[in-house]
Amino acid sequence: MKTQIITAAHVKDAAALIKKGGLVVFPTETVYGLGASAFNPAACARIFTAKGRPSDNPLIVHVSNETQLAEVAAELPVQARLLKDAFWPGPLSLVVLKNPNLPDIVTAGLPTVAVRWPRSPLALAFLEECGVGVAAPSANVSGAPSPTTVEMVKNAMLGRVEGILAGDDCEEGLESTIVGFVDGRAKILRPGSVTAADLARVLGCDAADLVYVAPTEGRPLSPGLKYTHYKPDAEVRLFRSSTELASIAVEGHKVGVLMVAGPALPEGWEVRNFEDWKAYGRHLYSAFFDFDRVGCTLILAQLPEADGFGTAIANRLHKAAGT
Ligand code: TXA
Ligand code: MG
Repeated sequence: MKTQIITAAHVKDAAALIKKGGLVVFPTETVYGLGASAFNPAACARIFTAKGRPSDNPLIVHVSNETQLAEVAAELPVQARLLKDAFWPGPLSLVVLKNPNLPDIVTAGLPTVAVRWPRSPLALAFLEECGVGVAAPSANVSGAPSPTTVEMVKNAMLGRVEGILAGDDCEEGLESTIVGFVDGRAKILRPGSVTAADLARVLGCDAADLVYVAPTEGRPLSPGLKYTHYKPDAEVRLFRSSTELASIAVEGHKVGVLMVAGPALPEGWEVRNFEDWKAYGRHLYSAFFDFDRVGCTLILAQLPEADGFGTAIANRLHKAAGT
């Protein structure tokens, strides 16, 4: 399949492909999404094939106005409305009851749908032109890190989609915070840049109340949580301090390092020394990608404190490292 690379000035062309049942990768402030019309089941089925994604893993639907939201979701519960008003448009997905007209393939047969109103201006322009909710998982091949640059998108999706809407590098770099509701109460299903403290402030509860404990039996609330994610080709090892870093055996490896304000390191290592954790999160996946491309076999990644945005980074790092 020939993939059209579409610039921001031609956002209408990208939307036209969606309207014809095509697949289009588009940028959001979190990561690039692999989109299809949420109301075209055949197009949605092609998302699963293009990604190599298991069909029991539901898709997030992206909207840009109230009409699209109402077409996708049933009426929002009170807590969801509070979060919507506080954080949309933005990097937060809400899992709510679906509109019965939304095709079952989007939600993998679940009665709920994950819905997000992104804030990236190009994503919003694209969604407005599409005129319909756009189902879009992250635009990586299943299991790999999500793409945050056009280069990563091309590497993963050229030849698999009709179009790539080429925007800037993603501002956040990690996938959205996902919040679901258990008996009407908000629970964080995936941490992101909207933190537990941010959510708790709006809901008037304790951040600890938002912790989701997955049931040991039956279907988990978020099916995707059980799959391995975010893995580069290289082995990933985590460290907290310079002492821990120095204790990791690196013989025979080409080494890549990710850290924040860290010490000087041996010549020949690929080092990304970020100024803060925000920058670390923004560039995490693109650094994985770059390290793989230059042939690193071992990536040493610093773990943040699991607090605030650090929780989201630590969550992705543990999955990448298999720890
Ligand atoms: O930032 C993001 O969220 C990006 C951009 C493109 O919006 N999207 C993204 O989608 O990360 P994806 O498919 O890679 O991750 C969505 C997660 C999956 O783990 C999926 O299982 C979960 O959301 N999910 C989707 N619908 C759900 C539902 N109805 N109930 C529970 N979890 C759901
Ligand atoms: Mg994903």
